[in-house]
Amino acid sequence: MRVFVTGGTGAIGGYAIPALVEAGHAVTALARTPQKAAALTAQGATAVSVSLFDRSALTAAFAGHEVVVNLASALPSTARFLSGKAWRNNNRVREEGSAAVVDAASAAGVGRVVQESVSMLYRDQGANWVDEDSPVDRYPNTLGNHAAEANANRFGGTAVVLRFGLFYGPGAAHSEQFLAQARHHIGLVLGPAGTYLSSIHLADAASAVVAALAAPAGTYNVVDDEPLSKRDYAAALSAAAGKTPWVRGPGRAALLLGDRLTSLTRSLRVSNAKFRSATGWSPRYPSAREGWLATAAALS
Ligand SMILES: NC(=O)c1ccc[n+]([C@@H]2O[C@H](COP(=O)([O-])OP(=O)(O)OC[C@H]3O[C@@H](n4cnc5c(N)ncnc54)[C@H](OP(=O)(O)O)[C@@H]3O)[C@@H](O)[C@H]2O)c1
Repeated sequence: MRVFVTGGTGAIGGYAIPALVEAGHAVTALARTPQKAAALTAQGATAVSVSLFDRSALTAAFAGHEVVVNLASALPSTARFLSGKAWRNNNRVREEGSAAVVDAASAAGVGRVVQESVSMLYRDQGANWVDEDSPVDRYPNTLGNHAAEANANRFGGTAVVLRFGLFYGPGAAHSEQFLAQARHHIGLVLGPAGTYLSSIHLADAASAVVAALAAPAGTYNVVDDEPLSKRDYAAALSAAAGKTPWVRGPGRAALLLGDRLTSLTRSLRVSNAKFRSATGWSPRYPSAREGWLATAAALS
């Protein structure tokens, strides 16, 4: 298929572009700088320089493509994660960018839009499994994702929304910080230790993007097979780092940070059953235990 990717030069794109090329697709991707264009070319894609917010330029760029995959986001760094201001750009990319992408894809006669979203928009479900029909929540960090999903859903009958778990793996900035903390004997527990965290290695997120090209239209969770409790997640990180944790935290204290951290402090035991059965996709790393071991080995 001829596939156009926006946001293909980021963390997930670094895996998704090569995976799409490897699967035999002809890939075009948006590049914002000559350096990023060169990187895309080296990965076997054709780079195009166009604004994410310019509908007519996007329409021209999308012409002749069968699928548009929108992976564009501008999440703040971990250091600025708690700043409301730092999220404004992300919201613009998610809200206005996804609207322009969908309008341009419609105008260019593209057959399908695949939109990246997050599984952190579900309500806290305790130890219960979360599927695509579980209730969602609207707190500040998710508003851009809700807008992007709504834009994808107005594309028509062929949109696919992928609600990813917490990304990790080489190339995901925050995950390299998590590992560095584990190497300093810090066990990172975000929220109560018994609550669940659903994650996805970037390589598995990328293979899900490839699988989404042929998925029935709809919304899917893309997480690994075994969400871990925060306690077990910290243990997986420590095992990957080869260090025993001397301190664990912030635990429940993270709840005091409120809305800005709620995506990570709530309990989300998300199921990938719908995506697995619709596409035959399965993650290479069934849980963060195996994924963190591979990540630590790759980064050392
Ligand atoms: N909850 C979480 O999962 C979480 C939490 C904290 C941090 N993070 C971090 O967020 C990242 C998630 O991966 P990601 O691939 O979604 O994000 P990313 O690595 O930040 O990539 C975002 C993509 O969108 C593009 N983009 C951003 N603004 C754009 C604009 N105005 N116009 C056109 N394109 C634009 C970027 O282009 P350029 O390459 O040109 O910039 C890039 O291709 C990881 O690095 C992770 O460490 C995630």
